[in-house]
Amino acid sequence: MSLDDCRMIELPKIHDQRGNLTFVEGDRHVPFDIKRVYYLYDVPGGSERGGHAHGKLQQFMIAMSGSFDVVLNDGDRERRFHLNRSYNGIYIAPMTWRYLDNFSSGAVCLVLASAYYDEADYYRDYASFESAAQASRT
Ligand code: TYD
Repeated sequence: MSLDDCRMIELPKIHDQRGNLTFVEGDRHVPFDIKRVYYLYDVPGGSERGGHAHGKLQQFMIAMSGSFDVVLNDGDRERRFHLNRSYNGIYIAPMTWRYLDNFSSGAVCLVLASAYYDEADYYRDYASFESAAQASRT
């Protein structure tokens, strides 16, 4: 997996004067079956979240409200995305180091995940992630 596998995906948007509606279907709009949903909220200004990678987990992040930046790194290259629309999300492939910053006030980050929470799937140390990522490319 590399940074090129991570991408912004535009979700369907049903325009309505009563309020817009967006939906996400597993294995259709996101390239995995959705097993878990969690969200970050009440994030204080200046905070950073994330700062880890996953060996197998696939994720999809949406700014449900407000905005923030998602910085992705595959152990070789880094890319910064800005999320500020409820109908856009970022697909994060396995073996991608990520951190989130630049949260606006009231921002809510919704995360769809391909598996249950499993601490054993985390890389929390950048140096070990980087060597594992480089080894997987050779
Ligand atoms: P973590 O993934 O490190 O948060 P972030 O990357 O957003 O900074 O998780 C923070 C804590 O929450 C950690 O103790 C693990 C726990 N947690 C769960 O118990 N279940 C979950 O689904 C998630 C995402 C985290």
